[in-house]
Amino acid sequence: MHGYRNTQAARTAATLEAMSAMAADGNAGWVTLPTDAYCNPDIHALEVERIFRAGWIAVGRTDEVREPGSYLAREIVGTPVAMVRDQKGRLRVFANICRHRWMKVLDGKGRKAVITCPYHAWVYGLDGCLRRAPGMECHPGFDAAATRLEELSFEVWHGFVFVNLDGHADPLAPRLTGVEETLRPYGLDNWFTARTLNLGEAPWGWKVMQDNGECYHHEGLHPETFQTVFPGERSGTTCGDDWILQWSPAREESLETLADGTRVMPGCYFEPLDGLDTFHRTHFVLVYVLPNYLIYLQPDCGIMIRFLPVDVGRSHMEVDLLVPESARHLTDFEARLDRFESFFHRFNDEDIPANTAIQKALDSGRASPAPLSRHEQHNRHVAWWVARKLTSTSAP
Ligand code: FES
Ligand SMILES: [Fe+2]
Repeated sequence: MHGYRNTQAARTAATLEAMSAMAADGNAGWVTLPTDAYCNPDIHALEVERIFRAGWIAVGRTDEVREPGSYLAREIVGTPVAMVRDQKGRLRVFANICRHRWMKVLDGKGRKAVITCPYHAWVYGLDGCLRRAPGMECHPGFDAAATRLEELSFEVWHGFVFVNLDGHADPLAPRLTGVEETLRPYGLDNWFTARTLNLGEAPWGWKVMQDNGECYHHEGLHPETFQTVFPGERSGTTCGDDWILQWSPAREESLETLADGTRVMPGCYFEPLDGLDTFHRTHFVLVYVLPNYLIYLQPDCGIMIRFLPVDVGRSHMEVDLLVPESARHLTDFEARLDRFESFFHRFNDEDIPANTAIQKALDSGRASPAPLSRHEQHNRHVAWWVARKLTSTSAP
């Protein structure tokens, strides 16, 4: 056992040393992370602490809890959290843990007047304050008035809710100003979550998922779904600190002409938004907020993908299909949404075998650090970002 611990410690030390070098030189060598970083439990534990507890983690959208009393329970690296719209219309995010003996107080999605714990029926108001605790009147150390569900730090950005578990992260919005100009025309505050797909646990880690975010693989994995219209080699990438922006132009000859004569990319399932400029009508855009937020945007709808580590080499993935409010009036809305969902499954089904195979290769111990092409700026940035978060001696 002692020998195992030494070997494991040496392995972790070597990986962190390589990451330190990458953090220091900005990944000047254009390489992937050390392969051990994808399958080492110590590295996973460090990521949970320094990235997923310390950072801003996307959990959903404000439109999912629009009415007073509506709630939505989710989980971030083992911490149950719940978004709740209180009686006054204020959004709150709670640790979804009863102050009595730690039961989960809210489950799934719904609407309630008060929050009643299913274990011993303590009752909390929508503001998190304890209202009723049967049988606790005589407890000498119990202060009912001071008892409330723990509120977590959160920030709303373009309608998306990000939670910071440790409560120490710097504000999120100022870190994302670099994507504002590209994002603003979509008016995402006025979109809504039309459908959520819970894809469950995937047999690959969150970094394999992130790595799959480049458009370089269109030719190999998506010859029909993307490459024929959106050639990967014509896509562009720009990176900030905590974000990555990518855009991919539709081939000129594939553009469709609308009734008013404007040209738009093919594959719209709803109606292209009014007032979009040529760029936004003819490109799809990908916005990544590290570590777990990805949104795919086209002129009429979008796909938000949230993924979180479950364990080393395993992650959980949820997908929201987003649509502008203006599309609600369409009489065949559900049929269009079905077609939009089918589009997601078509390309996602093409990605699944690759992600699965890659994690398996990494776990085998026979994969070595790889060089990145000039079309993999995304991967270069993610590797550098992770290396910096795990090795920085200052606050992550
Ligand atoms: S655990 Fe919630 S009331 Fe007992
Ligand atoms: Fe893909």
